[in-house]
Amino acid sequence: MSTRTGTYDGPSGGDVHDLLELAITTAGAAGTMLIDKRPADLQVAHTKSSPTDVVTEMDQAAERLIIDRIRASRPADAFLGEEGGAAAGASGVRWIIDPIDGTVNYLYGLPDWAVSIAAEVDGEVVAGVVAVPTRGELYTAARGEGAYLVRRDGSTEKLQCNAGVPLERALIATGFGYSAQRRAHQAEVLLGVLPRVRDIRRAGSAAVDLCSVATGRVDGYFERGPHEWDIAAGGLIVREAGGAIGGLNGRPASVEMTISAGPGLYEELHDLLVPLGPERD
Ligand code: IPD
Repeated sequence: MSTRTGTYDGPSGGDVHDLLELAITTAGAAGTMLIDKRPADLQVAHTKSSPTDVVTEMDQAAERLIIDRIRASRPADAFLGEEGGAAAGASGVRWIIDPIDGTVNYLYGLPDWAVSIAAEVDGEVVAGVVAVPTRGELYTAARGEGAYLVRRDGSTEKLQCNAGVPLERALIATGFGYSAQRRAHQAEVLLGVLPRVRDIRRAGSAAVDLCSVATGRVDGYFERGPHEWDIAAGGLIVREAGGAIGGLNGRPASVEMTISAGPGLYEELHDLLVPLGPERD
């Protein structure tokens, strides 16, 4: 299957694969639109001049494109989209969509923004796609079948996150919320983390951060604040790459806290974070 981000050579056949293929073609179409229609002179000023800024317009247009395409072939499905595209459905399938994860990167022309699409069946994510169009990278996963990176040139790699990395040698991705109060506390949490790890990265997209854990480009990730649409697809990708994703004290990953890493490091990172109170604002 040919997409803007590459040729998909992963597993195929069956229902979950139909969902995965639809997610792949749809994420490819949205990524192409977001690149082609991004105004050449898009600048920060655009976001201050009107209540509905250019980036918001692109976000909304991409979400409409995604929902329209999926609905055209699956009219009975439900949707949850960052831009408000929530709709109930009768099929048991719900699509969880972030049309641009990493909107600030998109605004500044930085490469790490993604289209994230996950398909959930009866409450469980079974297929996930994170397309990073500017890098020509497409991350895919189907439940129980592994995670793949498909490059623009069509080359495909089965993903495996790093395992057994000790905390002090771990490269850890994180992110910060939009409110000043939350950021102030996130900075305090970072004071407790930074001296204990190899280093910190702030790439600007939670979906890309989770794919970076899956590829081993970073060893772990934690953040307070990412929503379901930021982590649904990336969460499946990281699990299928052998990693863990969750919240504090056995809770599932949520807007309160998302931690992800390979085996061994996950527990160490979790235990480092708990006394730092990272769920507070
Ligand atoms: C944001 C990005 C960012 C993370 C924020 C998210 P958005 O999503 O994923 O990396 O730090 O918590 O809200 O707003 O660009 O879709």
